[in-house]
Amino acid sequence: MNVKQTERPSPPFWLRAYASYRWIHHRLERMTWLMNTCVGDVLFGTLSPTEKDALISNSYCSSPHVVGSGRKQLFSWEKAWFDEVLPNAPARILIGAAGWGREVGALRRMGYDVVGFEPAVATTQDKDARLSRIVEADYRDFSECVGSGNGAAALKEICQQSYDAVILGWGSLSHVCCPEERRRVLEAAFSLVPKGVVCASFFSPPLMPSIKRGQRRRQLFEIGRTLGKWRGMAGSLEEDFIFSPHFGFGVIIRQAEVEAVAMDCGRKLEFHSEPYPHATFLPPN
Ligand SMILES: C[S@@+](CC[C@H](N)C(=O)[O-])C[C@H]1O[C@@H](n2cnc3c(N)ncnc32)[C@H](O)[C@@H]1O
Repeated sequence: MNVKQTERPSPPFWLRAYASYRWIHHRLERMTWLMNTCVGDVLFGTLSPTEKDALISNSYCSSPHVVGSGRKQLFSWEKAWFDEVLPNAPARILIGAAGWGREVGALRRMGYDVVGFEPAVATTQDKDARLSRIVEADYRDFSECVGSGNGAAALKEICQQSYDAVILGWGSLSHVCCPEERRRVLEAAFSLVPKGVVCASFFSPPLMPSIKRGQRRRQLFEIGRTLGKWRGMAGSLEEDFIFSPHFGFGVIIRQAEVEAVAMDCGRKLEFHSEPYPHATFLPPN
């Protein structure tokens, strides 16, 4: 049977122009993705841990919109988590990587007594958060200050106080690119609250699946590692990480890693991989 084909009218000019625009847009997006992948893979191997910290904090300083997009409330998973594990207000809470001051402001409004620290201070804009003071420091400064007492006066002041809970702010543990440093940060937090909870969130599967590096990406990473060795560094571990000029590097942290830290430090662990990966380290007994 012959089916009569009706001739489709050709799309109007503006629709054809739009299709060309979309073609260019897809190509540019692909190019940006490729560029980010190459730059991230080479830089991860080339830069020292402190240089990576500086790159991350510089990325956040120039992209304050990334930090919560001006959001002032807790996410619903965070609210449910904090309601369940934090002591009742007016407990004292220390927040690391406080950013824009989203958690600081929200917890303050709930009646908590909160202080925080954050390396990308250009992002600290929430009025309530500023009132409750966010000190300029990163996790390296924090673990150093808790461990040895060394640090800037403002940081020393907050590290010498006592707290009922410590929160490592939204996703921030993933910005500590070196596993030994992540352990030091957690140990410092545990020592500040021997009888209190430590809450941490991070990039982890399934939210951030494991990245399969093809041969080309492994080569890029090796180029970076060779450059790093040439610059006198021991060589970065080949960790799973994401790179974006908006936030720098974000390392994927697996449940086994946090379980090992909890077990070694005598803490009970409650791990949740969804809706956003987070863990509560409960005090011994
Ligand atoms: C996703 S933002 C979250 C900010 C804030 N907690 C919030 O939820 O709005 C991650 C934060 O981690 C901070 N950060 C990155 N690297 C850090 C480091 N090494 N030590 C402490 N904070 C860091 C960034 O500057 C950024 O403010």
